[in-house]
Amino acid sequence: MAIVYIGLGANLGDREANLRTALDHLRESGQVAVLAVSRLVESDAVGGPSQPRFLNGAARLETDLPPHELLRLLKAAEYRAGRRPTGVRWGPREADLDILLYGNRVIDTPDLRVPHPLLRERAFVLGPLSELAGEVHDPVTGKTIRELLLELQRRAWGHRTARLLESRAAMLDYVAMVKRNRFTLGLVPTMGAFHEGHLSLMRAARKACDKVVVSLFVNPTQFGPSEDLDRYPRQLERDLALASETGIDVVFAPPAAEMYPERTVSTWVTVENLSETLCGAARPGHFRGVATVVAKLLNLVRPDVAYFGQKDWQQTVVIRRMVRDLCFPVEVRVEPTAREPDGLALSSRNIYLDAGERKEATRLFRGLGAARDAFLAGERSAAALRAKVLAEIEGGPGVRAEYVEVVDAETLARVEDLSGPAVIAVAARVGRTRLIDNLLLGGAA
Ligand code: PAJ
Repeated sequence: MAIVYIGLGANLGDREANLRTALDHLRESGQVAVLAVSRLVESDAVGGPSQPRFLNGAARLETDLPPHELLRLLKAAEYRAGRRPTGVRWGPREADLDILLYGNRVIDTPDLRVPHPLLRERAFVLGPLSELAGEVHDPVTGKTIRELLLELQRRAWGHRTARLLESRAAMLDYVAMVKRNRFTLGLVPTMGAFHEGHLSLMRAARKACDKVVVSLFVNPTQFGPSEDLDRYPRQLERDLALASETGIDVVFAPPAAEMYPERTVSTWVTVENLSETLCGAARPGHFRGVATVVAKLLNLVRPDVAYFGQKDWQQTVVIRRMVRDLCFPVEVRVEPTAREPDGLALSSRNIYLDAGERKEATRLFRGLGAARDAFLAGERSAAALRAKVLAEIEGGPGVRAEYVEVVDAETLARVEDLSGPAVIAVAARVGRTRLIDNLLLGGAA
């Protein structure tokens, strides 16, 4: 028995009915089992005279028929579906059945070439085929069908251009394509104004996932009334160029009305106990806004993996907890903090700093460094480590600590002695700008 994949196409008459008739013919022959049929997709005719659009699909068959006999049976099925010889090459047709793959055989005869010679060139063949045979290897190139489809799409869509999608409908269409083809999907949620921190998340996603969506949405519900929503940096064109250079497939940048179509929000996601401490104390409602928008993004994009930065440690804890509590089928990955050469954690808000503040801002990192040195030298008292950080942060003018806390890396509960994984989290005002940073200690990750 051989497993065979065939392509299905039709652009005359009742296209779907024709393909069904052809498949029935195969079944009724008693010589072929039709194991699976892909979705049927619309595509423009390629080559030949101008003609109606095609409906294309693929089917998985099992058969004892040798290749040439199977070919004869496919021709008979086309005839049964209404196709008559016209002598027009690439002309319109009621049904077109081609052998795409026959086990892993390579056949090269005048009337039959397998794998199909156009297999690697045609999205309307590879798309449906990858739904049924994504992991099957093309015996000529050794690549899987899914890899061939990815390569073709990258060529067709331009390797270096991220697609900009701005509506939920367009996003859902894209996700449907991804799921149909069983591509793995990564999501990097952001508020734009990309810097190396964002790009490092994108690169991690690019490495691990077939397709990567970066969302770019300055989420109003996570900003307090006196915060910087209005002056938050917005630079879509530059961000698109950076995402493209990083090989991102889609930038999802919806207007606020797409994400919040109702005037008021009724359904919030509140992650209790983790949202009120640390940054949550100074920014009431902030993590409710973050959790709500991330839940919406996860529902829209349905990624396999979502990427977040360690820089916002509390955010990662809140989101991990939400994902667990609400059973989102997604893996959350946290990537290390990207820093300036002098240690300042990259942040979209660093542009608010003037030259003097920019120099003072390194106190956060230096303070955490002092705590790390003390920890490595054996210091386990949280109070002592806190004091090290505070001394450095408040050792100069213009920097005011909002909090310095040593907390359990998962529960965010204050710890006295560092026995398990802990985080030293810092928030400070440098001039008017609020900056945060943190350090993982004791094997937290
Ligand atoms: P934003 O501040 O744009 O950050 C997007 C992602 O980049 C977050 O996961 C953040 O932790 C990460 N990030 C920021 N600076 C980083 C750095 N220096 N190193 C590594 N990663 C860094 O965080 C948000 O947006 C929003 O709250 C969001 C999750 C998108 C929800 O609106």
